[in-house]
Amino acid sequence: MYKIAVMPGDGTGPEVTAEAVKVLKTAATKFGFQVDLTEFDFGGERYKRTGETLPDSAVEELRKFDAILLGAIGHPDVAPGILEKGILLKARFALDQYINLRPVRLYPGVECPLKNKGPNEIDYVVVRENTGDAYTGTGGFTMKGTPHEVAVQTAVYSRHQVDRCLRYAFEYARKHGKKARGKGDKNTLALCGKTNVLTYIYDLWERAFHEIGKAEYPDITREYYHVDATCMWMVKNPEWFDVIVTGNLFGDIITDLGAITQGGMGIAAGGNINPEGVSMFEPIGGSAPKYTGKGVINPLAAICSAQMMLATLGQEKAADTIEKAVMYVTANKLKSLAAGKMGYSTSQVGDLVAEKVAG
Ligand code: IPM
Ligand code: MN
Repeated sequence: MYKIAVMPGDGTGPEVTAEAVKVLKTAATKFGFQVDLTEFDFGGERYKRTGETLPDSAVEELRKFDAILLGAIGHPDVAPGILEKGILLKARFALDQYINLRPVRLYPGVECPLKNKGPNEIDYVVVRENTGDAYTGTGGFTMKGTPHEVAVQTAVYSRHQVDRCLRYAFEYARKHGKKARGKGDKNTLALCGKTNVLTYIYDLWERAFHEIGKAEYPDITREYYHVDATCMWMVKNPEWFDVIVTGNLFGDIITDLGAITQGGMGIAAGGNINPEGVSMFEPIGGSAPKYTGKGVINPLAAICSAQMMLATLGQEKAADTIEKAVMYVTANKLKSLAAGKMGYSTSQVGDLVAEKVAG
């Protein structure tokens, strides 16, 4: 029995979350486990009503769950930053979800914007650090509103944050790298940084990367790429990558690039993981206000988030079955992954996956 907190959130969040829950319940029945779901209404509407984002009391309540399934956060009537900082980043930080795991995997039948690249070439994972960097809110203004205004926003990393993220990434490469999956003769971890300019932050990352790799993970091949070059190779030679580890901000940016190479926001899923605590799974796209309530949004990213949640909870077989069902649907059913162009409604796509899972 798993206690799952469900936060559908804003915009199309509730529509896609409903389909993820549908597939989750089908998998539970099929694989003989139970899910006890509790819904929370944190998001833009609640904020507009009550002024509340994610209060401390809610964080304490969320700690009691085995995992959190999140739809989307972001509301057109609420200024940028309020809900993102108040709900999404608050949950990530307060629950110390220090890993943001974002697979970049092109499923069969999905149109790829990269020429001559297919599922064999686009098959890697980004391990994005999720608690530090420019995301900590360290900084401020002086002389605000004057022509001499100065704004500072500092990237922050401690050796502790870097080490735990690197160890997770090395472990992940060992268990799920290309060799472990029978796709090559080595497992590779690539550090994505900017050691030529960010000579403090990424110097720390690079030293820790080689120290830990040499001492504890000699079986994992280590590579280093600057972030700008990483973007170039993600487009030109995505097959070079296996597992990429990087800081919070670069991870945010390169995973949107990765997402578009795997078919876009309709399919890209991620997990905010605290390996010792409560993790939260979410589609990496936003709340898509213009598609809200139309039944045209693609729920596969939410379904894949539920799949990642089950894998993290130890239901590997159920997770695997969901992934295969999604691959079946992309290969054989959907005309496109884009909203309104799938050839099916949001709930029909959920049905297709659920039927295949029930098999
Ligand atoms: C993401 C999003 C968030 C981030 C925003 C909404 C704060 O872009 O999950 O990638 O930057 O982490
Ligand atoms: Mn992002």
